[in-house]
Amino acid sequence: MELLILGGGQLALMLCWAVQRLPTVIKYVDAESAPASRCAELAVDPYAEIENSDVVTFEFENVDFDLATYAEKLGKLKPKLDYLRIKRSRIWEREFFKSLGVPTVRWRVANGGFEALEIAREWGKAVVKIPTGGYDGRGQYIYPRESELIERLTGSLLVEEYVNIEREFSIVAVRGEDGDVYFYPPAQNYYVDGILVWNIAPVDAPPEAYDYVYKILEWGKYVGIIAVEFFQTKNGVLINEIAPRVHNTGHWTLETDASQFENHVRAVLGLPIKEPKVLKPTAMVNILGRRFDELPVGELEKVGKIYWYNKTEVKPRRKMGHVNIVGNTSREVFEEVRKTLTLIYGREFARLVLKHTTTRQSENSRNFPQSAHSSVSNAGGNRQIA
Ligand SMILES: Nc1ncnc2c1ncn2[C@@H]1O[C@H](COP(=O)(O)OP(=O)(O)O)[C@@H](O)[C@H]1O
Ligand SMILES: [Mg+2]
Repeated sequence: MELLILGGGQLALMLCWAVQRLPTVIKYVDAESAPASRCAELAVDPYAEIENSDVVTFEFENVDFDLATYAEKLGKLKPKLDYLRIKRSRIWEREFFKSLGVPTVRWRVANGGFEALEIAREWGKAVVKIPTGGYDGRGQYIYPRESELIERLTGSLLVEEYVNIEREFSIVAVRGEDGDVYFYPPAQNYYVDGILVWNIAPVDAPPEAYDYVYKILEWGKYVGIIAVEFFQTKNGVLINEIAPRVHNTGHWTLETDASQFENHVRAVLGLPIKEPKVLKPTAMVNILGRRFDELPVGELEKVGKIYWYNKTEVKPRRKMGHVNIVGNTSREVFEEVRKTLTLIYGREFARLVLKHTTTRQSENSRNFPQSAHSSVSNAGGNRQIA
């Protein structure tokens, strides 16, 4: 079997790592030096490779839509193009939720920044999102703090009421070709400035959250792993967004016997899905904007398991790797998370992140600690799953 992955970042790399024991050739479409090159073969001619491969999947929403469309035309794209299409615009995604009757924050479409500001003023507090291309909090502006930036925006904009979030959690689920659906236990996610810093599983989620995930999967007969992000608010659970792919909030599943990566590949190749079982409380801490040789690797390894993505360049906030931490109790894991955050980012940032464990996190800080050596080439370690 040949599986072609559109994209070659850390998610493609981990998909490849997870299935090295399966009788599958994995190729990827991206730059020659992309993280996936450590494990998979580069597809030099992507169109020819789509024709040659048995199944085509994608690691990210912002992949080449024409390639995905071609794969769909040949009946090889999993999950289906419909899900990728929804993700091409945050506005379409909101309309999709509306059509399914799944609750979201209040939203409206504005034509240009001026109109966005008018709506924002009416609501008091809002976040204005550029519909395309954003991730990890990019392309989002908070009203009133960033009014000047909002005013300059053009085109269609998504304006959302800025809600008070009690906590954020996500559910990773997998659906097979035969319609079997498995849910991983929910994870609670902690963000700073819109980017995930750490999370912990398992946590509870209200039953309706699972219903929403199920509805989304059944809508287009989804195949593969999906991640759905939720806000818990005083008015109940609201859906934030979907990721029709493996997802950062599911990296903790690498410590179970059925990771999201393995199950995604199993699902899209039509192999039996492994029932996800969580053995122990597990946390994941992202390594953002750090070079390998500036990390206290020895000390980190005493606390958890390092996964390193081998990106050639370090940039502030860029996802360079992550640490997974398993413990006997969530209290114990929480203490290890504190240690890990301190080792990676320093005491002050660790305190800041952990202080805001139950509030809206994106607002915590505008001074995300940055590498002293950003943009320096990132030679060094090659950590991966044993
Ligand atoms: N309407 C909102 N109200 C409050 N916080 C929000 C809102 N929208 C987004 N956020 C915060 O910003 C984070 C990133 O936003 P999200 O829409 O998920 O974009 P991205 O695609 O960058 O992940 C969320 O996880 C949440 O912390
Ligand atoms: Mg998000």
